[in-house]
Amino acid sequence: MTDEGLAVYRPTWLWSWFWWTPMSATALRSIEKKILSFMKTPYKSTYVDIGPVVGTSDKIWTLSLNTEETQKTPLVLLHGLGAGVALWCLNLDSFAAHRPVYALDILGFGRSSRPRFSTDPEAVERQLVNSIEEWRKELQLKEMILLGHSFGGYLAFAYAIQYPDRVKHLILADPWGFPQRSLDPKLVSKIPLWARMIGNLYKNFNPLWPVRFVGPLGQWVVEKMRPDLPKKFAPVLGEESGAITEYIFQCNVQAPSGESAFHTLTEGLGYAKRPMLHRVDQLAPKVPVTVIYGSRSWVDNSSGDKIKEARSKTCYVNVKSVTGAGHHVYADRADVFNKMVNDACNLSDKGEDVVTMDTKAVIKDETGGEPKQEEEEVEGQQKEEKVT
Ligand SMILES: *[C@@H]1O[C@H](CO)[C@@H](O)[C@H](O)[C@H]1NC(C)=O
Ligand SMILES: *[C@@H]1O[C@H](CO)[C@@H](O)[C@H](O)[C@H]1NC(C)=O
Repeated sequence: MTDEGLAVYRPTWLWSWFWWTPMSATALRSIEKKILSFMKTPYKSTYVDIGPVVGTSDKIWTLSLNTEETQKTPLVLLHGLGAGVALWCLNLDSFAAHRPVYALDILGFGRSSRPRFSTDPEAVERQLVNSIEEWRKELQLKEMILLGHSFGGYLAFAYAIQYPDRVKHLILADPWGFPQRSLDPKLVSKIPLWARMIGNLYKNFNPLWPVRFVGPLGQWVVEKMRPDLPKKFAPVLGEESGAITEYIFQCNVQAPSGESAFHTLTEGLGYAKRPMLHRVDQLAPKVPVTVIYGSRSWVDNSSGDKIKEARSKTCYVNVKSVTGAGHHVYADRADVFNKMVNDACNLSDKGEDVVTMDTKAVIKDETGGEPKQEEEEVEGQQKEEKVT
């Protein structure tokens, strides 16, 4: 164990300034419980002890559903930056109808341990990938369908490069960190302000520091930064959709750990220091990939085609787009997204040969493949969305 690995984020005088906020683990626990209470499928939640991966004794907060179903490949969900398991509340019931589902708070985020990560980008990536692998071993999952949103998509890809035998299908939802940094002002201006702040203005701070800095006003800041969030979750949470804002606030107000890791991986303007597109060819050909973009997201959706180009012609790469959805594609149009994910999952139930070396399986679906009338029906509701 290196010294670095042993260190846990201790509040220095600086952090103790912020620690008077009502940000306890208890508050996060209860708001998470409240959100999950709206789900129909019974779930279990537990800490999975992955041992000394980054800190001395790291624990991964894990939600599991429908684990009695042993015939189907389990689906494992990795959230994006500053999020946690509860943000999948619009998806879990649908996914768990057909297979075991696990959602985890990535190490350093949500209710998982908050160790001090390396400050070297390559090492941080390795630490995070290791944490997922140790988690998988603890749960004794032989194979999984790995779905990552945004930053979780970057991690899922990095994991699949390292452990291709464990990934039966890789699903990337509006993945972050694929293209190389661009200085093209047209592309840059598409990146939302908060993401540019991460990369630029507050270079030397952790991205979510304003949330902590303002203490009890933090929740208000989250509300102002993301006024669109509660509305997305109203279909499940109804009048309680404001709970999402409180949840995100509580996820992010604690000592920064995963956030520091993300910061280490980031280069100006929200790009990755080690762009995943440079490494796409390292993914074993047998791992099928489905990419699902939101058509109105700030994420550069040309990466989907570039993944396809970088892989051999016989590899399965299916690029899809959800019309009208922004970066939070899993929440913006949950019904469409859920169906796309279930389709991809079902494919991997059919046995290995179907999705691997079959050239016919190389599908491209720019329209999102949704029936026309369904598209139009929901289109109107998406008009007001400004922030993604
Ligand atoms: C890709 O992004 C562009 C620019 O934001 C957008 O106009 C286009 O509709 C997106 N394509 C798909 C297939 O979503
Ligand atoms: C996936 O397969 C299950 C049966 O195993 C079926 O009920 C479901 O409709 C399928 N879902 C999709 C989206 O194809």
